[in-house]
Amino acid sequence: MKIIKFETIDSTNKYLCSNYKELDNFTICVSDEQTSGRGRETRVWVSSKGENLTFSILLKDKELIKKYASLSLGSGYIIAKTLEEIGLKNVSIKWPNDVYVNEKKICGILLNGNINEYLVIGIGLNVNQKEFPTNLRHVPTSIYLESGKVINTSELLMTIISNFNHVNDDEFEEETLKYIRSHNYLLGKYVTINNIKGTCLDINQDFSIQIDDNKIFSGEIENF
Ligand code: BTN
Repeated sequence: MKIIKFETIDSTNKYLCSNYKELDNFTICVSDEQTSGRGRETRVWVSSKGENLTFSILLKDKELIKKYASLSLGSGYIIAKTLEEIGLKNVSIKWPNDVYVNEKKICGILLNGNINEYLVIGIGLNVNQKEFPTNLRHVPTSIYLESGKVINTSELLMTIISNFNHVNDDEFEEETLKYIRSHNYLLGKYVTINNIKGTCLDINQDFSIQIDDNKIFSGEIENF
């Protein structure tokens, strides 16, 4: 495992996507600041310099990246478990992989790549930020705002990375599914996804989301 650290970069996801050919499996790119942090869809990711974690993990193990769906949800699971270890309560996952604490968004995850060659898992986790812009799409929070604890971001990164080693375990998929089903932020909520409206009933064994009679594998939850 190698960590490449920047003080400022446009986007850690973009860096790994542009350089994956020369980089090894499990290279981590972390930056104190992103000038063009990407969110899902066409959104941006805004994070104050040095206060939070914005990093990406490059995976090139072909067998592993085939498990795209479980890795996507599994990344949220790893972050959620790490937050619970710090002592946060009411942690949940908003399918596919946003992490919420007390109904507020604390972490966003963006996957980029190409299923035959590489996968980049980009994670934005709000750690010590005290104030956020008021115009964000989802109400944000941070570890500090939820617990009053100031956390050393480098140490937290090392904990998260070591928790990521479990993605290779045989039990990882089953554990992820069990956790997500029992910490499903959308459970029972009326949502819109891919123009389908309905109530979230469960997360299925294949990591799709069940909205009434519809089994949905990808998409963005629009209202909830
Ligand atoms: C979302 O919730 O829309 C996903 C946000 C993902 C943000 C992270 S921060 C590190 C990595 N680099 C990026 O440009 N985006 C991801």
